[in-house]
Amino acid sequence: MEKTFAIIKPDAVETKSSGKILARMEAEGFRVVAMKSHCITKAEAEGFYGEHAGKGFFGSLVAYMTSGPVFVVVLERENAVAHWRAVMGATNPANADEGTIRKEFGQSIERNAAHGSANLADAAREVTFFFSQTELL
Ligand code: RTP
Ligand code: MG
Repeated sequence: MEKTFAIIKPDAVETKSSGKILARMEAEGFRVVAMKSHCITKAEAEGFYGEHAGKGFFGSLVAYMTSGPVFVVVLERENAVAHWRAVMGATNPANADEGTIRKEFGQSIERNAAHGSANLADAAREVTFFFSQTELL
């Protein structure tokens, strides 16, 4: 069984879409290994999205991710990383397929409702970024 890391981003919490996104996670066969509400700090956002440091949208991305509470989630399923990315859809909701999370709930290329790890190594790093071992049962 594979694990991936997801965030229900501030825009989705603000629009009260968290429950629908959680229901979709379970409907897709994921086991919710761990989940908690969290207010991401500026330092956490900068570290988490470090691969984008220096890009034009980085400051705005950090401001957005710290603008309100999120739900951080660890999901488990066969092929979890790729499956959650497929369920989320393209980064820009305008390009996302019908039936994807970002098509349904995303508002813009930035305010796109959800995060999903890009690969297995990122998933492992991101899980431990927000969760301790004792939270992962
Ligand atoms: P994520 O890491 O959040 O799952 O999203 P992703 O892989 O689909 O996209 P990525 O390129 O890693 O971008 C991370 C997040 O930065 C915001 N973004 N804004 N204004 C822009 O051009 C722009 N591009 C990306 C989005 O919130 C994106 O999810
Ligand atoms: Mg990414």
